[in-house]
Amino acid sequence: MISYPISTPLSSATPIKRLTVPAIKAMKGTVPIVCLTAYTAPVARIVDEVTDLILVGDSVGMVLYGTDTTIGVSVEMMCAHGQAVVRASQRSCVVVDMPFGSYQKSPQQAFKTAVRILKATGAAAVKLEGGEEMADTVNFLTHRGVPVCGHVGLMPQSVQVMGGFKVTGRDRETAEKVCRDATAIAEAGAFAIVLEGVIEPVAAEITAQIAIPTIGIGASSACDGQVLVSDDIFGLFEGFKPKFVKRYAHIAEEMREAARQYAEEVRRREFPDQNHVFTPKT
Ligand code: KIV
Repeated sequence: MISYPISTPLSSATPIKRLTVPAIKAMKGTVPIVCLTAYTAPVARIVDEVTDLILVGDSVGMVLYGTDTTIGVSVEMMCAHGQAVVRASQRSCVVVDMPFGSYQKSPQQAFKTAVRILKATGAAAVKLEGGEEMADTVNFLTHRGVPVCGHVGLMPQSVQVMGGFKVTGRDRETAEKVCRDATAIAEAGAFAIVLEGVIEPVAAEITAQIAIPTIGIGASSACDGQVLVSDDIFGLFEGFKPKFVKRYAHIAEEMREAARQYAEEVRRREFPDQNHVFTPKT
């Protein structure tokens, strides 16, 4: 594998300090934690100005590679995108997803994958999906120097088992299950946990019960922080729009219009004009 320099060249005289895993953990119950996904350097550079946490999510498969699920994402993909995001960001704590099949087999497999991702990217932590069944793995990792962010509720890597992208907690059985899952992951040593697609009262109960920050996505403002996919808030991903997504911009429409204008000007031979051509030396 090609190894890229991890450090960020800074032009400013005072180096900017990155938020650390303990700093994120200490934000519980203080100020809301702001998290967005990023997979590329340009997006990381933009969101880093306002985020506390950047998640290099395995949603990269669906958002950038056009797949229907996150199942096909590889460790190599996460390393490449993680490198780009760490290199382009300065202040946010960067967390990289461990993709499907790279950690579920055993704590040892999870450790090997996590170490590979952390070494290749320079990220601060890894994220994995799963509740009670992953608690031993989280315990194993965190006792060996690997900071872990959990992810319970709607778990996209289990979409085939769950039979689709489904909201959790509407009935007593799933409400109790997601509470047990979050508690098990928190007690196993995770520094934060993503709650995805969890109804508001259950998200509130979990947030009150566990000692680590809950980062909600489709889990209400009761959580300690929020995460959304950047391409969703920018209006760049137009594949589908879940209820919990708010579009703050319509970038895809602007891109479409820019491409249309360019095509028109090329066909009319209006582009390139004299401002955009090289002329002989005078
Ligand atoms: O992969 C991802 O982007 C995620 C977030 C949406 C939480 O897991």
